[in-house]
Amino acid sequence: MTVVYDRILISTEQLQQVIGEMARRVNAAYAEKEDCLALVILEGAKYFAEDLLKKIDFPLDVEFMKASSYLGTQSSGTVNLENADALPAKIAGKNVLIIDDIYDTGRTLSKLLNWVEGCGAADVKTCILLEKEIAHDVSIDIDFLGTSVEDAFVIGYGLDYNHQYRELPFIAELAAEHIQK
Ligand code: IMP
Ligand code: MG
Repeated sequence: MTVVYDRILISTEQLQQVIGEMARRVNAAYAEKEDCLALVILEGAKYFAEDLLKKIDFPLDVEFMKASSYLGTQSSGTVNLENADALPAKIAGKNVLIIDDIYDTGRTLSKLLNWVEGCGAADVKTCILLEKEIAHDVSIDIDFLGTSVEDAFVIGYGLDYNHQYRELPFIAELAAEHIQK
């Protein structure tokens, strides 16, 4: 693969450390709870969720749904939720943990939170690997946050640019010369 990143911002080892710490906090918070459901937001959170869920030590169902808003490196402003038809019945009455890759503008998370609450969840919490260091459009208190990342368009560990580079095992900054104008 052509090298498309300038700098590695979060290494593979750092990611594993962060995720181990997140799993400990999630396990402690849900130890006494029943009817737990992890809702993994595709495609970005796929790699993160796979590593996190292996460290979860309480019973929980796992469901996936697709949310998309990005066009290239810009948030389009509208968030589309897909594959969602069968989910409301599974979400009703559950303690839902939304697992997503990054809190950027906050529009995706805010739409998801409203949608999950509208499905009649007993409780909704958010578990997000990265928070971009920007003034978010929508401010959200993340319940379980991995770490912050500087204001750059990042790729790797599930995060893509035009559907590519998700498989990089670390988080890196997409090099400016690879951004299509
Ligand atoms: P938000 O709605 O702006 O908070 O963006 C949320 C979604 O956009 C995330 O779940 C990601 O899938 C995607 N996204 C936001 N920032 C980046 C980035 O820097 N690289 C790749 N994807 C991103
Ligand atoms: Mg996403």
